[in-house]
This record gives sequence, structure tokens and C-alpha cells, in this order.
Amino acid sequence: GATIAIIVAAGRGERAGGDIPKQFRRIGGRAVLAHAFDRLVEHSEIDGILLVTGEGQEQAVMEAMGGRSPIATILGGATRQKSVRAALEHLASAGSPSTVLIHDAARPFLSSAVIDRLLGALDDAKGAIPVLPVVDTIALGDNVLGEVVDRSVINRVQTPQAFAFAEILAAHRLWSAETDATDDAQILRAAGHDVALVMGDRMLEKLTLPEDFSAAEKVFAGSRS
Ligand code: C5P
Repeated sequence: GATIAIIVAAGRGERAGGDIPKQFRRIGGRAVLAHAFDRLVEHSEIDGILLVTGEGQEQAVMEAMGGRSPIATILGGATRQKSVRAALEHLASAGSPSTVLIHDAARPFLSSAVIDRLLGALDDAKGAIPVLPVVDTIALGDNVLGEVVDRSVINRVQTPQAFAFAEILAAHRLWSAETDATDDAQILRAAGHDVALVMGDRMLEKLTLPEDFSAAEKVFAGSRS
């Protein structure tokens, strides 16, 4: 069966500041969204990209995509979870692929090695995600220090996340719309499936804050020289 990558780009990216949402800003002359698109479409096992964008973003998407062609562009929802759900329902009505990768547009620098690890892990699981170890001390607390959390048992979870299509669609349909989910692996897990962990990549860092963009610009310049 087919493997389709969903790129969710319907967010407003308010934490990143700037006049335009972060997925449309440029790094190395290319929109963040276009970087993510190119890395996915260049992978030999990915058959097509489904793009999820927000209302009123049509013009920005066209400019950012610069002639690149997804299999379809659909409208997202008010939360990331609703945007992903819309994409899954679209694919279901268009014949259902066997595998989906779900990726944040705000993570432009994914490597083919990460995609290889994810798809490899799907041989033994219905879901696979890239994670990184936590290197800082992690502590609860608001104004004063609370309990320290054992960092050896926690992970930083990235995207893309890879899933057997039938199972992630069913899991999304079961998940309550009122409960916010910041990724899709927790939705698959809640439906009773194990999610395999594979090694992530520091380059996959999500662009979130204003300073992330100048850092990314430097990383990108460095990776080409
Ligand atoms: O806001 P956050 O950084 O968690 O967003 C992660 C990804 O989800 C981004 O690529 C963003 O564009 C996307 N998103 C979406 N629909 C929303 C909110 C976020 O597609 N309503």
C-alpha cells in the first residue's frame, strides 16, 4: 500500500513572533514549509504529501510552496489535533493509504535516516516516533523549586511520527475532541497500541520562539558549507 506524509501547517505560530506564521518564514531563502516538504517528498518510500493549512493562509501557502505539488491541500482545524483528524478523514475518503507519516511544518530539517528508522520500526508496531533524551535537570515549580523529575525515564518527542493508517484513524475517532493532544502518538497509545521509540535528531528541533529562526539560519548555512 501507499505511504503518505501529512504536513500540518495550519497553526498561527504566535509564540514565534513576526508578521507571518513561522511555517511561511524563510530559512536559506526557502520557506520553512518548503524545507519540510522537500525532505519528505525526496524519500523513496513516500508516495505523496497531504498539506493541511489554515483559513486565510491560501496566498502565503502558494508563495511558500513555490510550485511544489501536494496530492491535496485541505483546511485544518482550531487545534493541531483537529487539523490531523481532518487530514486522516480526507485520506480515508480518498481510498486509505497503508501508512502515514504526520509531520509538523515547523520542523524543517528532517533527515532520510530518521524516516528510515521510523518506517523500519513499523514492521513490529502500529506507531513509531523519534525521541531524544533529556539532558537538563527537569523540575516542577512555578516561583519556587518543586520536585525534580527523573530525566532518565522521560523523552523529548519529535515529528514525523509514523503510523499504520487504519489504527491511527480509528484512534483519532475514539479520542475526545475536548482533550487536547499535542501529538498523535499519545492518541494511538490511548487506543491500546504500543508506540515504538526510535532515535530522533537535534536538527528536528521545532521552530517555536523568535530566536529559533536565527539559530536555524546558521545551522542551515553551516550544513551547506
Ligand atoms: O503550535 P505547535 O508548535 O504545537 O504546532 C505544531 C504544528 O501543528 C505546526 O506545524 C502547526 O502549523 C500545526 N498546527 C495545525 N493546526 C493548528 C495548530 C497547529 O496544523 N490548529
